[in-house]
Amino acid sequence: MSKKANDRKHNILILGASGFLGSAIYKELCAYFKTFGTYNRSNTVLEKNHHFFQFNLEEDDIYEILDITKPTIIISALRGDFSKQVLLHQHLAEYVFSNKIKLLFLSSANVFDAYSKYPSYEDDKTYSNSIYGHFKIKIENMLMRLPKRQIAILRLPMVFGAHSPRITEIIEQIKSKDPIEVFPNLIINVTTDSKVTQQIHYIINRKKSGIFHLGSTDLVHHDDFIKEITESLHLEQQAIYKRVYTTNDDRYLAVLPKFNKLPKHLQLNSQDILSELKI
Ligand SMILES: NC(=O)c1ccc[n+]([C@@H]2O[C@H](COP(=O)([O-])OP(=O)(O)OC[C@H]3O[C@@H](n4cnc5c(N)ncnc54)[C@H](OP(=O)(O)O)[C@@H]3O)[C@@H](O)[C@H]2O)c1
Repeated sequence: MSKKANDRKHNILILGASGFLGSAIYKELCAYFKTFGTYNRSNTVLEKNHHFFQFNLEEDDIYEILDITKPTIIISALRGDFSKQVLLHQHLAEYVFSNKIKLLFLSSANVFDAYSKYPSYEDDKTYSNSIYGHFKIKIENMLMRLPKRQIAILRLPMVFGAHSPRITEIIEQIKSKDPIEVFPNLIINVTTDSKVTQQIHYIINRKKSGIFHLGSTDLVHHDDFIKEITESLHLEQQAIYKRVYTTNDDRYLAVLPKFNKLPKHLQLNSQDILSELKI
């Protein structure tokens, strides 16, 4: 069987396909797989698309959409009420296990936000002191009880990219002369929507599983990186910054790969993000 015909066998359901990352993932995969997605807020364009289903995790259950779409891969790219998301992922975990399919979960570097002295690697114990980090850990732990080949936990750092909400917000703040918050003591790694979608495509094609740390190979100070962004956008003269110090010492919020590395062409450097913005 040709690779293309083999790929076609997958039905992919993206939960949160109207969002920033979900819609980028949908665009990346829809030419190669039978791809479906959910949206929450009413949307006249998506309503007409038979591959999209309206789904509110606070009110609806997911079973009807699972019955119609019969996914072999589910990608979870949702936001929304934390406890309702935990419940939804419990249902998804049961479905994934009993139907022997696979779930890709977009997690976050925040699962390590209580560690401060070092960057984090895949096998490090998660530890958070934020509500967001705790909630991601809860779902990760639930998924890690499934057979390893059936899950991929994708830990993302802050996602930038020319059309990302983070860049849009920076441009709007500069235009309206509002200060941009920067964290001078925070050392992070970063990524873009376009790199994340390529990485997900690869993980699907090569049947990869487990925990992935999908951040840039280099680390940057948050304030330096935001300043470099404003320079790449040629808006540095107008930008006003508000420096927020959470600790006296440098603090890391970075997810680096050690055991589950992707090939070189799927890795990125923070400079790649700035070059993309200059185009
Ligand atoms: N962006 C980042 O920098 C970043 C970094 C680390 C991890 N992540 C993770 O990546 C995932 C996607 O993030 P994103 O930035 O793409 O978020 P986003 O743009 O806000 O998209 C969120 C998606 O969830 C849907 N949604 C919101 N409330 C819902 C509800 N009550 N019921 C059902 N669906 C609901 C939205 O639908 P509507 O728009 O139609 O309401 C949208 O499709 C999240 O799990 C996030 O934690 C993101």
